[in-house]
Amino acid sequence: MVNLTIDGKNISVPKGTMLLEAARSAGISIPSLCAHEAVSRSGACRLCVVEIKKGNRTKIVTSCLYGVEDGLVVDTKSERVLNVRRLVMELLLARCPESEVMQKLAKELGVEPQARFIADSDKGKCILCRSCVRVCEEIVGVSAIGFFARGSHKTVGTPYNEKSDACIGCGACAYVCPTGHIEMTSTGDKRKIWGRTFKMQACTKCGKFFAPVDQLKFISKKTGVPLSELTVCTECR
Ligand code: SF4
Ligand code: FES
Repeated sequence: MVNLTIDGKNISVPKGTMLLEAARSAGISIPSLCAHEAVSRSGACRLCVVEIKKGNRTKIVTSCLYGVEDGLVVDTKSERVLNVRRLVMELLLARCPESEVMQKLAKELGVEPQARFIADSDKGKCILCRSCVRVCEEIVGVSAIGFFARGSHKTVGTPYNEKSDACIGCGACAYVCPTGHIEMTSTGDKRKIWGRTFKMQACTKCGKFFAPVDQLKFISKKTGVPLSELTVCTECR
């Protein structure tokens, strides 16, 4: 176990725990956007900054990527932290002004849209955190989406923005996206995502449409389980 102090509280957590989780385990909330338990971390949003003190030295670190250390003194709400966090929030809000998630977070942090940052009108709600790309590559294993173009034109999507044959319609990307940028709709036996329409499988017991047929075919191919054995939803299994 590692012993440290966060906001004046003495905390003991397992070695390898990140400061974000250590704080949360002690009931201390730190705002975050891009840290999702399902995917490896990118440290992209920078909202989770905290101030750490080692000896006489202090520095700002991203708590979702910084592991706990014995004797560390952490401040999640110092003036310095709040200033950095507000600035980060202003930039995120300028990038995605129409994102409801961003508007809500900004309100909670007391941040208003600032005239000094010109608001983007063409980036949708994407903060380029890479969580969607990572889940598609690391967890699902199909790599149907990626980042394209460079600099301020960088966007996430399918290659050439065309319908991707690799996509199985699982929706994992939409699930991990912290801002709601990825549009997915499921109506009746159809699911729409990334410009494609997927046919949904009805559960052979309860009749509920529960997964795209392409996703079940992919699982069947990967695991060797016959497709006919994958047509019952998790609730009826
Ligand atoms: S679409 Fe969502 S998950 Fe993907 S990079 Fe953008 S904000 Fe992150
Ligand atoms: S949650 Fe830590 S950088 Fe985004």
